Amino acid sequence: MRLLVTGAAGFIGTNFVRYALAAGAVERLVAVDLLTYAGNWANLSDLASDARFRFVRADVAACEEMAALVRAERVDVLVNFAAESHVDRSILDQGPFLTTNVHGTLSLLEAVRDLAGFRRFLQVSTDEVYGSIDAGRAAEDWPTHPSSPYAASKAAADAFVQAHATTFGVPAVITRCSNNYGPYQFPEKLIPLFVTNALDTQPLPLYGDGMNVRDWIHVEDHCEALWHVLGLPESTGEVWNVSAENEVPNRVVTDAILRQLGKPESLVRYVADRPGHDRRYALDSRRLRTTGWRPRRDFGEGLAATVEWYRQQRPWWEAVKSGAYRDYYDRQYGGRLAGAAERRS
Ligand code: NAD
Ligand code: DAU
Repeated sequence: MRLLVTGAAGFIGTNFVRYALAAGAVERLVAVDLLTYAGNWANLSDLASDARFRFVRADVAACEEMAALVRAERVDVLVNFAAESHVDRSILDQGPFLTTNVHGTLSLLEAVRDLAGFRRFLQVSTDEVYGSIDAGRAAEDWPTHPSSPYAASKAAADAFVQAHATTFGVPAVITRCSNNYGPYQFPEKLIPLFVTNALDTQPLPLYGDGMNVRDWIHVEDHCEALWHVLGLPESTGEVWNVSAENEVPNRVVTDAILRQLGKPESLVRYVADRPGHDRRYALDSRRLRTTGWRPRRDFGEGLAATVEWYRQQRPWWEAVKSGAYRDYYDRQYGGRLAGAAERRS
């Protein structure tokens, strides 16, 4: 396999690159990343000595550069993680979500469209495209109903992938995964934000009533699912849901983190809700399971290991939480925290 992985220096990209190189069958792995605020070269730097590995700092929306790269490297499989990935940031500024998530995906599809020997384009999408799920679990044939600008950009990208598969015969598939947790996640997302804040005995800003539900899966289970999908017989334009079918309210996740770190409940602040906040995600992943994939990590154990990872990796997240992060944090939480009441248990 001559693999190109975009968004390789982000959370899931980092875990996937490490998984793919360890899994074997990879002759070449070209890691592309623009190194935005969320991308971190330190995540991959130890791989530089692996002769199969090459890192290219580039924008996926630069179509000619991407086309030249896939030709020069004779890429036969492309996995697209590159994205602006945070819902709250998409509410503050939608522009980068359109550029990277939509134009970037289109640019990559065009780059491989007529590429000799190209076998598979895997678009890493999200359960957020289905919107909030009142009852039951969203299956692949459910309509998309995005709530946030982030989800809208991912749904639009999925539509371009399907259009390219149908119209131009690009051998593309889409995976839609639920909320990931694990090592290397940027500390703007719920779990790493709350773990690192709790480690510093700082407030944990819980949105609304804290009872929104997310369907959590360990990032290594997601990586295994992606690898599994790459190995499925050729299928073009297909969608595969990926989830551990593990629904947990945010308040329960928060309490587990505080318990493990021995920190007081009084750190929790109920703050003004996220606008358009999806109440519940729940994904039906039976279709992928019938092909032999299964999630293997227990949530309690996986969460405990993740909390421990952040406890031991203070230099990693302290470096990430400096500079521009502080400006973002103040903009996102300053007013909310000032107005929040302490949690009463
Ligand atoms: P992340 O924000 O941690 O990483 C995104 C990476 O993309 C970063 O390294 C960033 O530098 C890079 N990037 C951004 N713009 C770029 C551009 N124009 N060109 C090249 N690189 C660029 O995100 P993540 O959580 O690792 O998510 C990866 C993918 O998986 C995204 O497409 C996301 O929509 C999807 N996804 C995430 C989750 C989750 O729970 N985190 C769940 C389902 C799907
Ligand atoms: O479902 C998959 C999606 O999961 C991915 O597509 C996204 O890239 C990823 O960011 C994630 O989206 P969420 O919006 O669900 O994740 P986030 O960690 O931002 O929020 C999880 C829940 O926690 C959500 O209900 C909002 C809540 N929350 C989040 C933050 C950051 C809080 O209560 N307080 C917070 O400060």
